[in-house]
Amino acid sequence: MSFFHTFVLMNHPFTQSILDWYSCFGRTLPWRGLSDPYAIWLSEIILQQTRIQQGEAYWHRFMKQFPTVEALAAASEDEVLRLWQGLGYYSRARNLHAAAKQIVAAGSFPQSLAGIKALKGVGDYTAAAVGSFAFGLDVAAVDGNVFRVLARYFGIDTPINTTEGKHAFTALAEELLPLGQAASFNQGLMDFGAIQCTPQSPRCTVCPLAESCSALRTGRVEHLPVKLKTLHIQERRLAYIYIRYNGYTPFRRRTAGDIWQGLWEPVELERMTDESLKNSLLKDSVVLAKNVRHVLTHRVLLADFYFLEPAVRPQLPDEFIWIPESSLDDYGKPRLVERLLERL
Ligand code: ADE
Repeated sequence: MSFFHTFVLMNHPFTQSILDWYSCFGRTLPWRGLSDPYAIWLSEIILQQTRIQQGEAYWHRFMKQFPTVEALAAASEDEVLRLWQGLGYYSRARNLHAAAKQIVAAGSFPQSLAGIKALKGVGDYTAAAVGSFAFGLDVAAVDGNVFRVLARYFGIDTPINTTEGKHAFTALAEELLPLGQAASFNQGLMDFGAIQCTPQSPRCTVCPLAESCSALRTGRVEHLPVKLKTLHIQERRLAYIYIRYNGYTPFRRRTAGDIWQGLWEPVELERMTDESLKNSLLKDSVVLAKNVRHVLTHRVLLADFYFLEPAVRPQLPDEFIWIPESSLDDYGKPRLVERLLERL
């Protein structure tokens, strides 16, 4: 893309405008201004796929229960998953825990971009965010907000969800980055995208960049950034049956190789291979809900919920353990299972 090679972008007025805007309107967030890389890294992992307001509450809880990376590394996976409960995308919590162990084993938090990127669950964006916020590294942290702001201001229609787009927007952000001020520039761009240059109804009438914004000038604000349509999202059916026998209920822990690894769930009938067991459970059960829609990143689940209170304890596969219903809170569960429990 010739655009990036025909302009020299260092000291571009865009950069100064973002820094000025950030100093006036930047959000006050509890991890901003901290230098503890653990606290900053934790905030970034929580904020992947989570709104700031919800993320803030979880960040405080994590910092209270695990004030240091050593404390987090020493926790059990169940403890970490339980505290994570409600945030979804549980691989983030497992990676967080694994990375805490990596850091403790290494003796200190990595300070180079490559070292941070070697942590489990840390990609290009998160490594750049942590590196610039905690250690002042001169690297651009390019998230969805940044893609949108750059695409609109510079009028770039390269799709943001392609390798070419990711490289192009990252290269542009790197060129615009003011050396020594990466933290303010990165956070300024993110906040600007979140507050000012929003996906829907951006506030162009009060935008300090309005005069020089390419998208505004050419009437393309609503059409930028361009995103290629992704392949159709898979739909998958599930049928949970919550069984109550003498104050106990059977749950199993999900294993590797699928969604919700390590979390606990009740008996699931769609994947039950023993047809006669399945029919005998269903026969006396009560329907709690049908076709509950539950949206994950790459698929949509359609779940049926059943309830059964049998007279005789059913014989279930060995993977199920009978848990006292009063201690169900101690087990990390997917949000969908919580939704079932709410209907009991
Ligand atoms: N989203 C993720 N990390 C962020 C941060 N540090 N500031 C603003 N928005 C964010």
